[in-house]
Amino acid sequence: MKTKFIIAGTGNRGLGCFAKGLTGWEGKSRPGFTDRAELVGLVDANLSRAQACARELKMPQLVLARTVSEAQEQARADWCIVTTPDFTHAKVVVEALEAGLNVVVDKPLATSAWECDQILQAMERTGRQVIVGHNARYHPRALRAAQLVREGAIGQVLHIEAAEVLSYSHGGDYFHRWHSDFSKSAGLLTHKCCHQLDLICWIIDDEPVEVSAWGGRGFYRPRPDLNHGERCSECPIGRDCPHYFDMDKWDGVRRRIYRDCEAEDGYIRDRCVFSDRHTINDHETLNIRFAGGALASFTQVAFAPEEYCYFNFTGTRGRLEMQSREPQLRMGQLGGKMEDVSLRPEPVEGQLPADDYVEHGHGGADVCLIADILGLPGSHPLQRAHPKEARRAVLIADLANRSIAAGGRPVRAEEAGKDYPPAPPPPAD
Ligand SMILES: NC(=O)c1ccc[n+]([C@@H]2O[C@H](COP(=O)([O-])OP(=O)(O)OC[C@H]3O[C@@H](n4cnc5c(N)ncnc54)[C@H](O)[C@@H]3O)[C@@H](O)[C@H]2O)c1
Repeated sequence: MKTKFIIAGTGNRGLGCFAKGLTGWEGKSRPGFTDRAELVGLVDANLSRAQACARELKMPQLVLARTVSEAQEQARADWCIVTTPDFTHAKVVVEALEAGLNVVVDKPLATSAWECDQILQAMERTGRQVIVGHNARYHPRALRAAQLVREGAIGQVLHIEAAEVLSYSHGGDYFHRWHSDFSKSAGLLTHKCCHQLDLICWIIDDEPVEVSAWGGRGFYRPRPDLNHGERCSECPIGRDCPHYFDMDKWDGVRRRIYRDCEAEDGYIRDRCVFSDRHTINDHETLNIRFAGGALASFTQVAFAPEEYCYFNFTGTRGRLEMQSREPQLRMGQLGGKMEDVSLRPEPVEGQLPADDYVEHGHGGADVCLIADILGLPGSHPLQRAHPKEARRAVLIADLANRSIAAGGRPVRAEEAGKDYPPAPPPPAD
């Protein structure tokens, strides 16, 4: 029997990754997905977008609703995939669990440690499961690094330096819409860097206990000198701007799911990145202390010419360097040299070789995540993110946000978990 799915949140991820993946779209799916899964309903607070999504999929029979419980009354699904904006995750996940569904929630688990705990408590209460969409774990280099550290290849990890460097176009994209409102995303450390913070915690398998952080917004600030418009689609300098959001890119799907549906909820997808409405930082740097004694430094910057991320782990017996550029993994042991590491010396059954990825969506990681959710081969049991693990990344960001608001004061884990963290102070003029 097929497992029945509802998708809540029919924007970019709901449609482009999960709905197309489950319904067999080329490059987004694998043989076997449609034998195992049936998409039965779509939920969106904006019903026009749910309708547009059903049209994209050419599936007029889908149950469409504004809430998960309404959809579940008719659809009788087994699982709900939650791809709504981050600040709604706790509410939507808890509603789905209470409606009797198991849940896949795209990262981050939620926007604060406090909301993560609401999800963990609802899991306990309902006996249902939650999988977190930490797709970055499904990249071969991340798995190999986690295995090497667990095997003790570099001894006990004592120190980590890591950074997420986003390009003008990728980093700027967060300043077009809801992400740049701190009350909706809890900032880029939570929204974007939960991937990298999860990888650090997962690879060293440890709990963060204290964070100190600084941050600022110096790039995505009002630029009246540019004579820009309010939104890209009506901007006189749009086409020359590195942040231009093209509604007609690809086959115009962005126009159909965003622009054509905006009358219902006022969600404008292509607002100018140079505005005075942002309440998040565009660069942040933090120090993290882990329970086992390791120290980490982490930086995010959202306005670079070229995208890049790196993680360097130094342990009592050696050093492991992981990065998005080639060579992706290097390792050296005490007394030896740093050498390239093969990404997958022991193939996981059903997994494609690293050089043969033809699947779209985060270098094939999205398809691996869906395969894992459907119980198909191709992933390692280590890769599936349990909410208790995913909470660690949210906790680090939550503590960092509290520290930034307090001028860099070190903040201990016990100080989070009771409320939403404060927004960063606005930039000085
Ligand atoms: N794993 C990844 O690599 C990855 C990449 C991008 C985004 N994401 C995550 O996916 C999620 C969705 O991001 P997106 O870019 O698709 O956003 P989006 O804005 O394109 O889509 C979100 C949709 O949710 C709907 N919505 C808002 N509130 C709702 C509610 N209470 N109930 C039902 N629907 C509601 C909106 O109308 C919209 O259609 C976010 O949590 C984001 O962090 C994950």
